[in-house]
Formats: sequence, C-alpha cells, structure tokens
Amino acid sequence: MDDQAAKPVDAIGGAEHEIVELAEGLLAVADRVASEGHPAAASLRGHLDELGASLRAHYAVEEEPDGLYATLDRGLPHRAARIAELLEEHERILERLDCLSRRASAPLPSWDDDRVVAEARYLASFIRRHESHEIELVYELALGDEAYGSGE
Ligand SMILES: [Fe+2]
Ligand SMILES: [Fe+2]
Repeated sequence: MDDQAAKPVDAIGGAEHEIVELAEGLLAVADRVASEGHPAAASLRGHLDELGASLRAHYAVEEEPDGLYATLDRGLPHRAARIAELLEEHERILERLDCLSRRASAPLPSWDDDRVVAEARYLASFIRRHESHEIELVYELALGDEAYGSGE
C-alpha cells in the first residue's frame, strides 16, 4: 500500500464508525417505537436531530475538495459511475431523514406506528449500507484491482 492509498484508509476509521453507531442507535429507537408507540416519538425526534447533524457534518467533510470523494475520483476513474451514485445517496439519505422527522412530529391522530418504524429501520439500513459501500471503495483503492477483484 503506498502513502497516497493509505491516507483514505486511515481517514475512514473514526468518522464512519460514529455514523454506523448512530444508525444502530436509530434501530434501537425504532424498536422502542414498535413497542411503546407514540410515547417514544420524542426519543425518535431527538435521535434524528443528532443523526441529521452528524450526517450533514460527515457528508460535508467527504465532499470537500480534498475529501474522500475527490480521492476516490482521482484513484478509481473506472469506478466514476459508482462513486457518483454513492455521492448522490447523501442527498437521498438526508431527504429521507427529514421526511421521517416530519412524520415523527405528527400529532397523535395522524401518527402511524407501523410507517414510522418501517421508515426508521429502512433509513438505518440505508445509512449503514452507504457507509459500507464507501469503505469497500476505499479498500479497493488501497489494495488495487489485482488484490481486490472487480468489486460489486
Ligand atoms: Fe458518504
Ligand atoms: Fe461516510
């Protein structure tokens, strides 16, 4: 592994881990909503606020001119379409999070346990999948095509 490739691998450690932990926390809050219903709505909103702030900060760093995406673009030009797809997921994840926050703020008559729980679980898995796909690309970059295979 050369120095240039080692850099993104080092950089993904803490930040990615924090995001995955917050996504796992969202699953735990979704379980609470599943068992308690509307009384757990305030916990869900609080968790979504924290998750939203962390995701926005995380994505901003990844999208910096010398951030993760610029590094992947430079190092894996043959994966440009896949990289663009993942970058676009940032917007989609934040839209889903905002939509779930609005649903979690619904007053009791229009509150929908099943829908809130399903959307929270989907969002948590979307976030985890996104992070793990980024990590795969970082390792592909670090190890090179021969060592990693073609991916997907
Ligand atoms: Fe990302
Ligand atoms: Fe990430």
